[in-house]
Amino acid sequence: MSDMYLIGIGLALVMALVGLYNNWFQSSECCNDNWISLNRKGLENDLAYKLFGQHIANEVILKAIKGSLSTPVPKKPLTMSLHGNSGTGKNFASQLIAKNLYKNGMESQHIHMFVSTLHFPHLQLIDQYQNELRAWIRGNVTKCPRSMFIFDEMDKMHPGLINAIKPFLEYTNDVDKVDYRKAIFIFLSNTGGDKISEFTLGFLMDGKERESIKLDHLEEDLSLAVFNNNNSGFWQTNLIQANLIDHFIPFLPLEFKHVVLCVRAELASKGVEGNENIITTIASTMVYYPKEEKILSLKGCKTVASKVNLYY
Ligand SMILES: *[C@@H]1O[C@H](CO)[C@@H](O)[C@H](O)[C@H]1NC(C)=O
Ligand SMILES: *[C@@H]1O[C@H](CO)[C@@H](O)[C@H](O)[C@H]1NC(C)=O
Repeated sequence: MSDMYLIGIGLALVMALVGLYNNWFQSSECCNDNWISLNRKGLENDLAYKLFGQHIANEVILKAIKGSLSTPVPKKPLTMSLHGNSGTGKNFASQLIAKNLYKNGMESQHIHMFVSTLHFPHLQLIDQYQNELRAWIRGNVTKCPRSMFIFDEMDKMHPGLINAIKPFLEYTNDVDKVDYRKAIFIFLSNTGGDKISEFTLGFLMDGKERESIKLDHLEEDLSLAVFNNNNSGFWQTNLIQANLIDHFIPFLPLEFKHVVLCVRAELASKGVEGNENIITTIASTMVYYPKEEKILSLKGCKTVASKVNLYY
């Protein structure tokens, strides 16, 4: 028994040391090439094999990131606006970028994620939020020029906050003596998602190949949608008309076959090799539309994880 006891203590010690080491390793993250460098091949593979059904996003993101990171000093910060209905992979795509650019991935202290309804919920505090946000962007970019800021739920963002971000996105080489040109800004929203879905559905119903949908097909619809959406009016006038967004990236609605891929990936991440019957069954529990044809998944892959949990 005392042997077991000693082994137990030994194990606990080792675990504690590993924990300490990990902590130290993470918190020692620096702002240099050891910690931040683009894994081109990794990003290319992840976008191609893990982001399902998004051939346009895949191509545009890869080009944009490679382009911006291959220039020692870019002319302006890289700004990308990701559009699409929920469950199409906008968040996931940002994670893939993070994973292949920062050694600590999303855990990196150089990545800052803001969710409008979570971080800026109170209208009456907007002045305070504005000041905080400015100070945070400034402080973090001062600490590390290659910082990444992700703004989720952009369509729910208060105009005042959008105004607060705006100066950082412009072409100037310094605002406040700080150089923002190496920073990366990613905006996520559902704006235009319905237009994208409508277009995709029509395209597929005409019997055309999803992969032959081109960015041009959607770009006009997308800018019109953003333009005409009353909620994103300020966003439109302030960021888009000022040409501060480099890339509008549409995320297409997903089909049954993509949901199947999501289910399989979710199982694999749990270390389970699911059999095809179960995978198909789980994918079939999602809601598809139109009612008759059932072509597109209403929530993309959004609830796949919880459906998988019901089965395992
Ligand atoms: C960086 O941003 C975070 C919010 O993501 C904030 O809490 C922190 O204070 C900022 N750091 C600096 C140095 O401004
Ligand atoms: C936007 O607001 C105008 C009036 O301010 C209204 O007529 C129009 O229907 C609204 N558009 C949308 C898409 O809600």
